[in-house]
Amino acid sequence: MRLDGKRVIIIGGSSGIGLETARLALAEGASVLIAGRSEERLRKAAADLNSDKLRTAVADISDETSIQTMFAAEKQIDHVFLPAGELRPGGGDVLETGMRDLESLLKIRLLGVVNVVRQVRSKMKSGSITLMSGLYSTRPGKGGAMGAAGVAAIEGMTRALALDLAPLRVNAVAPGLIDTPLWNTFGPHRDAIMAMGASLPVGRIGKPEDVASGVLFLMQNDFVTGSVLTIDGGGSLV
Ligand SMILES: NC(=O)c1ccc[n+]([C@@H]2O[C@H](COP(=O)([O-])OP(=O)(O)OC[C@H]3O[C@@H](n4cnc5c(N)ncnc54)[C@H](OP(=O)(O)O)[C@@H]3O)[C@@H](O)[C@H]2O)c1
Repeated sequence: MRLDGKRVIIIGGSSGIGLETARLALAEGASVLIAGRSEERLRKAAADLNSDKLRTAVADISDETSIQTMFAAEKQIDHVFLPAGELRPGGGDVLETGMRDLESLLKIRLLGVVNVVRQVRSKMKSGSITLMSGLYSTRPGKGGAMGAAGVAAIEGMTRALALDLAPLRVNAVAPGLIDTPLWNTFGPHRDAIMAMGASLPVGRIGKPEDVASGVLFLMQNDFVTGSVLTIDGGGSLV
């Protein structure tokens, strides 16, 4: 197994893309820590993954103290994946959204990465950090300026951190439309959003495992750094 003996940490691992990445990493032999804000979500994820190599931790990526506490218990870390994030309908519209909400979006997206990088640097001798971008970095939707800025900044940060943290490798994944609980906040509009998958070149919506397998590739290929892997079913082409 390709991750045998490796320690993998996934902040945002209790649902969707992070949860499927945890499942694949466990299947490859890793011991995995998943973190998120909701203890209940973590408990359900742990029951689903059902592995004695899995641990959970309540942590908020935007809260420096919470991230410090979580990493204090870790000795050596091999791979870190940071899918933590949420989607607030209209939450990225710079004309309509209050400054506090816009700031909080950037705090989770960008300063959350900073919180983690500061904690893991001394605990990683080699291995990888994978950040989360998204199709919005190149194909923004109307009213999504701050969301687009957040993920575009992540791509810049990916390349800069690949230099700053070398020989650790730093990459990002940029998913298109993926069917996960993230979209539940759209309520009755969720089905219409998911139906958009039919118009993609691949003819279907993405599954969390489509992205998870890309994250595993970025963990395992030790010649890839500073890269952004697009996994969007051709969404950036249409
Ligand atoms: N699904 C898509 O179509 C898509 C496309 C492009 C990019 N993305 C990005 O991919 C990431 C994962 O999305 P997903 O679709 O897998 O969503 P999801 O199913 O809602 O999972 C999000 C995960 O992040 C955790 N989380 C949220 N805020 C957090 C915080 N402040 N600190 C720690 N954990 C936090 C959630 O747990 P708690 O709520 O309990 O904290 C949950 O485990 C997001 O950043 C999203 O923007 C998704």
